[in-house]
Amino acid sequence: MNSRVDNHSGTGRAIVTLDTPALLLDEEILESNLRTMQDVLSACGKNVRPHAKTHKSSYIAEKQIEAGAVGICAAKVSEAEGLAAHGIRELLITSPVITDVKIQRLFHLVKSDCHVMVVLDNPDNIKHLSQCARRHRTVLDILIDIDPGMGRTGVSFREVPGLIRLVERCGNLRFKGIQCYAGSVQHIPNYTERKKQSRAILEKAGELVRNLDSSGHTCEIFTGGGTGTYDIDSDIPELTDLQAGSYAVMDAEYLAVGSENSPGEFLAFPPALTLLSTVISTNRAEWVTIDAGLKTLYHHGADPIPLPRRNGWEYQWFGDEHGKLTRKGEIPLPALGEQVELIISHCDPTINLFDHYSVHRNGTVTDTWDIDLRGCST
Ligand SMILES: Cc1ncc(COP(=O)(O)O)c(C=O)c1O
Repeated sequence: MNSRVDNHSGTGRAIVTLDTPALLLDEEILESNLRTMQDVLSACGKNVRPHAKTHKSSYIAEKQIEAGAVGICAAKVSEAEGLAAHGIRELLITSPVITDVKIQRLFHLVKSDCHVMVVLDNPDNIKHLSQCARRHRTVLDILIDIDPGMGRTGVSFREVPGLIRLVERCGNLRFKGIQCYAGSVQHIPNYTERKKQSRAILEKAGELVRNLDSSGHTCEIFTGGGTGTYDIDSDIPELTDLQAGSYAVMDAEYLAVGSENSPGEFLAFPPALTLLSTVISTNRAEWVTIDAGLKTLYHHGADPIPLPRRNGWEYQWFGDEHGKLTRKGEIPLPALGEQVELIISHCDPTINLFDHYSVHRNGTVTDTWDIDLRGCST
């Protein structure tokens, strides 16, 4: 079972006939991005364990598994539940699960027919999870979350051996390895600087993995890395999995980040995701107003980019429901009723605003895919 909506009423139409604002997904680019990541990582002997927090779609998660991913990451228990309900069998929850209510849901999943692992970073949480696992007569696979310096979640490198000993003492938990996701380095614009900072963190994690191995605590999994460092972290010998998310669909924030051969742009993964909007007012000479504002474009990071880029149009925030399109060059602004496609600012929170993707190939609608994990934030 996949989560594809059986609603083909729009199939075969040109995307310009869609009602707006509409979240468009270019199927060909999506497939090519999934293939590129899988090929690059496989060539380095690494696994892809993509993060569903970006696309929020169990159907896309299935496509990632079909492309060769070893499992899917979920940020929240509810995302993992949604993925499991649609047949994804290998899951990693990448945030600590702390409260009784969530731990109960976690064990419900653990006792189902899928394999669920969770990260942790706290001795009390270890004891709590161990007691619950014993009560449920099961064993929970865990990864220790390492703080790469951001201070969001995770323990310091030196605290890891102590936590592993506690995991072993408590019982009913199985140490599978470590997670070290350096989120704060992913968008460093300068490639060389990004490489330097990511290397410094992941090499330290690699050293920890070697030391753990030699003391008998084998890390079957060392997961980390995101889209911004996919071609940097894949050089770390001890890293087993990359947990990138944005690469599948991309956004303006990532596209502005420099890559190895091009200082001002991220070339490896073109944007598969855009927002289709309509010009709804043209009473000013200097700008036109479109029907895409804060409620359809999450405001974070880079400004949305109106397409085609050669037109030189610029998007400015204009309230909850509206955006302002201005121009730099000589190309006229779009007319009343005309449609404008935009590359969105930040993919994850924008996708979370929509119920479905309007999927297309070369401008023709091919399908509608449910964003079934939308709003799964518990
Ligand atoms: C723990 C974790 N892993 C992986 C990712 C995916 O990163 P990216 O979207 O940069 O590929 C994120 C994104 O925030 C994350 O929080």
